[in-house]
Amino acid sequence: MKKALWVGIAAFALACGGEDIEPLPLVEAPAVLEDENPDPRVVEVSMNAATLSHSLGGDLDLDLMAYNGSVPGPLLQARVGDEVIVHFRNDLDEPTTIHWHGLRITDDMDGTPRVQDPVQPGETFTYRFTAPEAGSFWYHPHVRGYEQVERGLYGPMVIHGEHDPDYDLERYIMLDDIRLDENGIAPFQFSHPEQMHGRSGNALLINGVLSDPVQGVAKQGQVERWRVVNPSNARTMSLSVKGANLRVIGTDGGLLPEPYTTDRITMAVGQRYDLEVAYLQPGQAELITHVLTLDDNDEVVEIEIPVAQIAVEETGKQAFMPEWTQPPMLADRQVSRYEIIELDAVSDEDGIHWRLNGMSDHEEPMFVFEQGETTQIILKNLAGPEHPFHLHGQFFRIVGGDPGLKDTVLIRGGETVTIEAYMDNPGRWMAHCHILEHAELGMMSEIVVNEAPSAE
Ligand code: C2O
Ligand code: CU
Repeated sequence: MKKALWVGIAAFALACGGEDIEPLPLVEAPAVLEDENPDPRVVEVSMNAATLSHSLGGDLDLDLMAYNGSVPGPLLQARVGDEVIVHFRNDLDEPTTIHWHGLRITDDMDGTPRVQDPVQPGETFTYRFTAPEAGSFWYHPHVRGYEQVERGLYGPMVIHGEHDPDYDLERYIMLDDIRLDENGIAPFQFSHPEQMHGRSGNALLINGVLSDPVQGVAKQGQVERWRVVNPSNARTMSLSVKGANLRVIGTDGGLLPEPYTTDRITMAVGQRYDLEVAYLQPGQAELITHVLTLDDNDEVVEIEIPVAQIAVEETGKQAFMPEWTQPPMLADRQVSRYEIIELDAVSDEDGIHWRLNGMSDHEEPMFVFEQGETTQIILKNLAGPEHPFHLHGQFFRIVGGDPGLKDTVLIRGGETVTIEAYMDNPGRWMAHCHILEHAELGMMSEIVVNEAPSAE
């Protein structure tokens, strides 16, 4: 019903002789924010964060936190260049913020405690930004994230671009896990294994439903775009598609220059993948996650859990792949600077302290860059567990790694990964591990990008 409203507003704008704006593509998501502003280039929405008691399809009522009463929070969508205004009210009894993960907006709207006083209980804050580029993004708090995100504060965001290919349908899938015990959400204790590996769930939460896959119907010959994000505290997801043809078409930073096929997608915490799913044959198409677990003999085995199941109706039709127009790409850039970040930990009687370049919780910026600088950063993981390293406000690519622009990169234990980062967006930006327990235990720093003097 809310989707119909979106279309309704666009049609209204056309009727009023507004700019020639096509309705947004349909995106299947659990809930959608309603645009309160009739101007077709302004997206104005209201959001709150509040506690919620809900079973999410399980047997117990859970003590959740939710945006607008929904886990995940409602879909925020806009077009590139739109002005986005979010009237936010904190109805929790603790401070919070909203961080727009992956968006290259101004730093004062980035929703981190480094640039914004957290929104106190009962208070409001208005986030305002211009949607910078097309892609699949998400939002979440940046205060006590390990608990607020685990309890349900996260939601999807789509910025539509003019180069977006036209699909029969788009689906947004947030694949989370959650840790439950016999009373509900397991207490947040920072046990030694949680300090070491982050809190991993014992149940999957798929678009806010416990353990049950997303269900859908489609017709043979149709082609869809699935935007998938991993908002979990710590679990790297491993994905595959059965019963349909899969191409990876986008990453954190939007569409790829060229789609590619693969059997397996590794999606670290915070990352997004855009999948093109073509129903070439009737039957059931499935998105599967592969999870390591112990069998009855305590052997590690990999099991398959369905994340989405689409019943594909026979039509005898062939699939027509939408034409691929190469999205505007970053020009080849000269690397002008090299830096190293070492990731490790020390322990004392308080437990584990995670570090970046030998320091926990950097208060001073780790590096200062000049706007426009292209920097190779060598990330060395010197300790056992893996770390999904996330840089706010900029994109990078992985040198010699998976294609596409990223804002989060996985560095496995003992590995070294080099990224080429485009320091184009001036401001103060967080740089941290997206395993939320690691971030809380010190793997948190900041970089500064100095604004280039404007060429007059
Ligand atoms: Cu997704 Cu610093 O965050
Ligand atoms: Cu980490």
